[in-house]
Amino acid sequence: MTWDDYYRGDGVPRAIELPAPPPWRTFPRQPMSSVFQPPPGLREAVNAALCLRRPLLITGLPGSGKSTVIEQVAAELDFGPVLRWHVTSRSTLADALYRYDALGRIHAQRLGGDRNVADDIAPFLQFGPLGTALLPAERPRALLIDEIDKSDLDLPSDLLDVLERGEFEVPELVRYEHDEVDVRLYQSDGRHRVVNGRIACTQFPFIVMTSNGEQIFPAPFLRRCIRYTMARPSAEALRTLVGAHLGTDLPDRGPVADLVQGFADRIEAGENLAVDQLLNAVFLLSRDDAPTGAAREELTALLLRELSRA
Ligand SMILES: Nc1ncnc2c1ncn2[C@@H]1O[C@H](COP(=O)(O)OP(=O)(O)OP(=O)(O)O)[C@@H](O)[C@H]1O
Ligand SMILES: [Mg+2]
Repeated sequence: MTWDDYYRGDGVPRAIELPAPPPWRTFPRQPMSSVFQPPPGLREAVNAALCLRRPLLITGLPGSGKSTVIEQVAAELDFGPVLRWHVTSRSTLADALYRYDALGRIHAQRLGGDRNVADDIAPFLQFGPLGTALLPAERPRALLIDEIDKSDLDLPSDLLDVLERGEFEVPELVRYEHDEVDVRLYQSDGRHRVVNGRIACTQFPFIVMTSNGEQIFPAPFLRRCIRYTMARPSAEALRTLVGAHLGTDLPDRGPVADLVQGFADRIEAGENLAVDQLLNAVFLLSRDDAPTGAAREELTALLLRELSRA
């Protein structure tokens, strides 16, 4: 089989099997916890955040592993599945705590039917990622607040208040006629019994917030976080990292070693390249059927194109 067996651009149908995917692109997704290689200083920052019960704010270039750190911490310390909150400019604190489908409930009440079903508030409530992380539990949960720099300007301060107190209210339940309601958790079939509409955590969650540096955070926010910036990996660190992903030791010499060294030199010189571009390049260029000569050069340039250019 050669590279030419796949897409040729001749419009002739071919029901050909694709080659096996890279280990990091198999689905369902494999956990990254065992392949992640912490850069220098990360361990200390994670342990400080864990012991101080403070969120860890991780900054760094795209693809530097910011969103992956928490997977390893959660797996090592048995914090359960990572709760993920992907922040956008439309994200609100309220939605991250819980969602109440008021319209759905009115609709159910209008439809009439069984009055008890329509009046039950529980089916119309669900905790969000932050709300689930703050539920009382025996072990802390792990919460990823990804790309917090994309948020509306007020969100970091709103978040501070909840994280400072470790508790929140669900006003719809405070006023509700019954004291106890079983509310659904985020991304799970589980439920938590809420009493009088109040939730208070017993174990502060391990929280990682990531940022590409697109927003400057206020000092009161920064003061309450442990801050860490992902270090640029050295050639040696890159070799270990690529080897961990591919499940082999990388050779010290040869085309793959050259690829890693070339990549390390470029990031050292200040070019904006991400680790997963190197993973892609090593994966494709070390295949038996990889193109050679000028075609290889072209493919390398295609895969290792700087990120500041589209
Ligand atoms: N230190 C590392 N060890 C192992 N794999 C890494 C490391 N750093 C990055 N990677 C790999 O690079 C890829 C990108 O990582 P990730 O998505 O965590 O980056 P990010 O910093 O969150 O990027 P973005 O800013 O674009 O969201 C992942 O496949 C991850 O496994
Ligand atoms: Mg990320």
